[in-house]
Amino acid sequence: MGVTPRGASAGCCPPVPHGRCRNCLHSSSRSGSLPAAGRSPPPGPIASCWAVSSCTMCRGFMGWLIGMAINIHSDHILRNLRKPGETGYKIPRGGMFEYVSGANFFGEILEWFGFALACCTIESLAFALCTLFILGSRAKQHHQWYLEKFEDYPKNRKIVIPFVY
Ligand SMILES: NC(=O)c1ccc[n+]([C@@H]2O[C@H](COP(=O)([O-])OP(=O)(O)OC[C@H]3O[C@@H](n4cnc5c(N)ncnc54)[C@H](OP(=O)(O)O)[C@@H]3O)[C@@H](O)[C@H]2O)c1
Repeated sequence: MGVTPRGASAGCCPPVPHGRCRNCLHSSSRSGSLPAAGRSPPPGPIASCWAVSSCTMCRGFMGWLIGMAINIHSDHILRNLRKPGETGYKIPRGGMFEYVSGANFFGEILEWFGFALACCTIESLAFALCTLFILGSRAKQHHQWYLEKFEDYPKNRKIVIPFVY
């Protein structure tokens, strides 16, 4: 009692050994047998699995939602840098631009990793990784360009992943 089994999940989900849960998710995704909305999950391991998969989906959905908000907010900042009739480029400031040069790209990357977490499929993970590499390389180009063009460009800004890269 009080001891979490090895491999069990933590946080808001009840402790379920991962192996058992994987089996559950596997069979549910094949048969589409997850409990219908509004109905209580059946008792026992299946109920625990249902709770764990719901938790994972909620976390993924939150990641996707936050990513989308960052993406929209950052694009909004970029599109409003120029006053009417102005051309050229300026240093973007505010929001996630205080942390990374590619804030809009970071938002999109977060979106797709959240989506992948919610879906738990190889295909969605592959899409998220492609987005990471494509937008990550664009962010790197932008970052280097900013550093060359603007002497006062904030040196503590990362490329695309806050505090990391
Ligand atoms: N899923 C994907 O694979 C994928 C691929 C590409 C884009 N996207 C998404 O599409 C959205 C837009 O992408 P994008 O490549 O067009 O972004 P972007 O190159 O950052 O440009 C967005 C807009 O802001 C302007 N802008 C950018 N930096 C500026 C600066 N320093 N000063 C003044 N204006 C600036 C750009 O003007 P200019 O046009 O004159 O540069 C453009 O109108 C993003 O949210 C991105 O995540 C997704």
